[in-house]
Amino acid sequence: MAKVLLVDDEEGIRRTTPILLGQDGHQVRTARDVPEALEALQEEDWDVILTDIVMPGPSGIDLLAEAHRLRPHATVVLLTGQPSIETATEALRQGAHDYLPKPVRGETLRRVVRQAAERAGLRKENARLEEAQRRHLQDLEVQIATRTREIRDLMDALQKRLDETHRILEATVEAFSRAMELRDPYTAGHQRRVTRLAMALGTALGWPPDRLRFLKIAALLHDLGKLKVPAEILAKPSRLSAAEFALIRQHPVSGWEVIAPLDFAGPVGLIVRQHHERLDGSGYPDGLKGDQILPESRVLAVADVVEAMASHRPYRPALGLDAALEEIRRGSGVLYDPEMVQAAETTFRSGLPFEEDPTASALRAGS
Ligand SMILES: [Fe+2]
Repeated sequence: MAKVLLVDDEEGIRRTTPILLGQDGHQVRTARDVPEALEALQEEDWDVILTDIVMPGPSGIDLLAEAHRLRPHATVVLLTGQPSIETATEALRQGAHDYLPKPVRGETLRRVVRQAAERAGLRKENARLEEAQRRHLQDLEVQIATRTREIRDLMDALQKRLDETHRILEATVEAFSRAMELRDPYTAGHQRRVTRLAMALGTALGWPPDRLRFLKIAALLHDLGKLKVPAEILAKPSRLSAAEFALIRQHPVSGWEVIAPLDFAGPVGLIVRQHHERLDGSGYPDGLKGDQILPESRVLAVADVVEAMASHRPYRPALGLDAALEEIRRGSGVLYDPEMVQAAETTFRSGLPFEEDPTASALRAGS
């Protein structure tokens, strides 16, 4: 059962065809020419358009193009009293479903209309499915965009929390680092200055942020074990006795003992333990050599020496940056990792990346 638009200038055909097609349950509307057919096309949708070709005014071929534009699912069948190969070819080329010479036998017309209706039904169904699929995809896109936005917001919130947690951790470690140095005013700021140097070296070496974060914590706490050494030994302006020096040499292990159980995701405890190891095995506490020493500890060793030499000590004045760089250059490949020495020379040539510590200079002025 289909909606059929019949376009023909012959009144007889307009009268008999609806009766014929009505037998199959089709609903038929008639138009006498192309303008009237266009009106019908604009007013409602059609499954099948049966049109004569030669009529007064525009032809059925002209109607064909308009019909496709207005009702793309409709099937067009052309009828003509003056059949020719040329018109048939043109009609089919323009997308007509069939081309029937008049007079058309009733049976033939019913069969052709049935087929055309089926074809229109399939086209409509196809279009309906495509539309449903398009809407479904559109819905999915909206859902995906919404979820993506939600996930991004969540990630942003998590990142903020994580940044805040890192900041608190670093601030806590730094506060502890400062607190340690209260006991030993002559080296006040040493760990923080070493941290600045070590971070500058790590950055120059292209280390990623996570690695730098653990280096920073280790650097801020690297002399933690000195808490076990009596303050008067640390601050002693004269040369240390062998026993006193032995006590001081225990500080990397003491620091490691405190930090190692804290279960940092990075090797903070080991970095601290190895910061006095030297490339040729002459360091302490374990006499490790070359690659046995963590790169972080090799960086820390260079930063520690440069800072110590460039700063004032109870038993001597500051030796200055040039002397510090000269010292590590001399020890390059023997005591210090050449890669770290090279990085230090490049990074620190024009000065060290920290302000003079006000506490340290005040103390020096008073001493
Ligand atoms: Fe140390």
